[in-house]
Amino acid sequence: MRSTGLPRSQEHDLSHVMYTAEEVESRVHELAEEISRDYAGREFTMLGVLRGAFIFIADLMRHLTVPCSVDFMAFESYGAATETSGVVRLTKDLDESVTGKHLLVVEDIIDSGRTLHYMLQMLEAREPASISICTLLQKPSRREVDIDVRYCGFSVPDEFVVGYGLDYDQRYRGLPCIGVLKPEIYGGA
Ligand code: IMP
Ligand code: MG
Repeated sequence: MRSTGLPRSQEHDLSHVMYTAEEVESRVHELAEEISRDYAGREFTMLGVLRGAFIFIADLMRHLTVPCSVDFMAFESYGAATETSGVVRLTKDLDESVTGKHLLVVEDIIDSGRTLHYMLQMLEAREPASISICTLLQKPSRREVDIDVRYCGFSVPDEFVVGYGLDYDQRYRGLPCIGVLKPEIYGGA
């Protein structure tokens, strides 16, 4: 297996590496260039969805060549350990008002799309100037609600992935690559 950067004790929890740290870094750089071009001359705010997006948004921001501000939101969704039930609750609101602002929502992964759908409804009610979506990953085969994703790092198959901010039971977020968790770790096999 390609190097994971994981402590030895966790390395055996991955079945394989989906994207190496270098592949992730290079894709994040490309996304930042695209966003910098699109938002040139237009002030905007990146809204990170906690906790999964914290590493992605930090790396993305450091590659931007245009100014932007940042704010965070968090949601809790009830359901099984590896998928949402669709019942979503806001646990941390933004610190600033978004009315009249250009917003770029930054997510770690869009699975069913329900969390994001809930978030977008909440944001739209606050009447921002615009909202675009940037996600590191999406699982197109699992989408249940239609969401217009402007920037996407990678479209991935229906496998449970961890690393680069993504967790299983609060573990593996610090992994520099994106890896597939062995199903037996989360009781999927
Ligand atoms: P959705 O509401 O079904 O789109 O679920 C989105 C949330 O579920 C993400 O923000 C993640 O927190 C979590 N999630 C979905 N798939 C994965 C995965 O493969 N690995 C880690 N977290 C995931
Ligand atoms: Mg998330």
